[in-house]
Order: sequence, then C-alpha cells, then structure tokens
Amino acid sequence: MARITASVYTSHVPAIGAALDHGKSGEPYWQPIFQGYEYSQQWFQEHRPDVIFLVYNDHATAFSLDLIPTFAIGTAAQFQPADEGWGPRPVPPVIGHPELASHIAHSVIVDDFDLTIVNRMDLDHGLTVPLSLLCGQPSPGDFSWPCPVIPLAVNVLHYPAPSGRRCFQLGKAIRKAIESFDAPLNVQIWGTGGMSHQLQGARAGLINRDWDKRFLDLLIADPERLSHLPHIDYLREAGSESIELVMWLIARGAMADVADGGGSAPVVKHRFYHVPASNTAVGHLILENS
Ligand code: DHB
Ligand code: FE
Repeated sequence: MARITASVYTSHVPAIGAALDHGKSGEPYWQPIFQGYEYSQQWFQEHRPDVIFLVYNDHATAFSLDLIPTFAIGTAAQFQPADEGWGPRPVPPVIGHPELASHIAHSVIVDDFDLTIVNRMDLDHGLTVPLSLLCGQPSPGDFSWPCPVIPLAVNVLHYPAPSGRRCFQLGKAIRKAIESFDAPLNVQIWGTGGMSHQLQGARAGLINRDWDKRFLDLLIADPERLSHLPHIDYLREAGSESIELVMWLIARGAMADVADGGGSAPVVKHRFYHVPASNTAVGHLILENS
C-alpha cells in the first residue's frame, strides 16, 4: 500500500523563483531566506519520496475568471511551467502520476468531495517555487525534478475560497485514498502559499508576525481547532492573500495524528520563519509521520 511519510509547508513567493533563476540567491536580501531551506534540501535528499502530492494555488494562470474550480486535481502525465508574463521559468516540466492521481480522484469524489479533473494545465509559481526551494535548481544536464508530482489546485484567489474545515477534511480523504492505492509508494504531501501578505489596497504590505507564529503553533499542535478559524480572521489579521494558508490544512489533515485513534502526533523536523520576502512573510515546516 502507498503511505504518506511526511508533509512540507512553504510559502511560494514568485520573486524567490526569480532570485534563483537569475543567480541572486547569495545576495544579502535573499541569503537568509535560502539559508532557511538548507536543512530542507538536505532532508529532501535523504527522504526522497516516490511521489509528491502538491497542494497549491493557481494565480489566474491555468484558470481565468472564466472557470474557477474550487479543488482541481491534475491527472496528466506531464505539465509545463507556465508563462506568467515574463516567459516560463527555466525549470523542468513536472512529470505527473496519472494512475495514482486517477485513483485519488475516484476515491475522494466517491467520498463526497467534488474535485475537478484536469487533464491539461500549465503550472505557475504556486507550484514551481516550492519545488525549487526543496529540490534546488536542476542542473542543465539533469533537466528533471526528482520525482513525479500530483498537483491539486485550490481556489483561494476569487471569493468564496473553501473553508479551513473543508480543506482539513479533504486532507483526511486524500490520506484514505493514498493508503488504499495498491503499490508500495512513499508519498509526501505539501501545502503551499501564505503566510501573511496583502498585495493590494490600503493595507498592501501587511505582515503580522505574531499571528503567523500562532498559526504555525496551532498547525502543529491543534490543526482541528485551527481548521475552524473563519476566513475573516485570516483577512483581518494577516491580509487578504493570507487566505492561501487554508491549503496548509489539506496537507495537515492528511497526516496521521492522535485524534484519529491509535496514531501519534507528527514530528516537527524543521521550522523556519522570515520577514520579508517580496511582500510576504515566509513560513516553512517539515512534519514527519512518526
Ligand atoms: C507575492 C506573493 C504571492 O503569494 C503571490 O502569489 C504573488 C506575489 C509577493 O509577495 O510579491
Ligand atoms: Fe500567491
């Protein structure tokens, strides 16, 4: 059977991708940020999964205002990096896992979560920047990511976004789906986006360190309680784009825990927080199933 061994949580700031792609990661502004991922890259090399189930949000790149799926699973064999206005990032195409993705879609939909099935889409910074942060930049001679990736795109761009509660429950259904796939796959689930940021309006640039730290504490220790936090609290306390953080609850919901009886709490392998990166606070966690 396939199993979820670990979850990774990270912000996805597009300027981080640009800093990597243009060789600026050693500059004083960026250095402390990339330093926070040095452990993570080492950890990833030592814990390479067979598949990453990567929860992210599209930023009106693959989907426009013409079509806004709440939850969309990528079932394709391959996905191209998207052109977000400056040409596609010089990173490899993402290889999918159609068999596992189709199995998850089937299991989760029959479990009452209405996923949209996407057989073709390009992937924007929401997915490629987290991959770069954990996997490093692939060298030109090795133009592939380390393993297949199943993208799950969540609408957090256009209101209404799904509730934290719904995301947390979906994570549990995804775990059940993965654990019923008949192949011995080591799967990681990643939740991306966040942390506090607001890109528009009078409060543009808003950062709330205390709120972010509390979010990380609760995500680790009491995700069930965190999942009941209403959208308005995210917006008021941590800015309009902080709502991206509901995606972290999907990854957290997929982890075994004491609350499911017999399980034990995941182990915190790494925790990092830094302000600023472009307009956001960068938050990052690695949790392993014990
Ligand atoms: C920034 C952050 C985001 O999450 C995003 O999608 C785009 C830009 C920023 O901080 O600049
Ligand atoms: Fe974003």
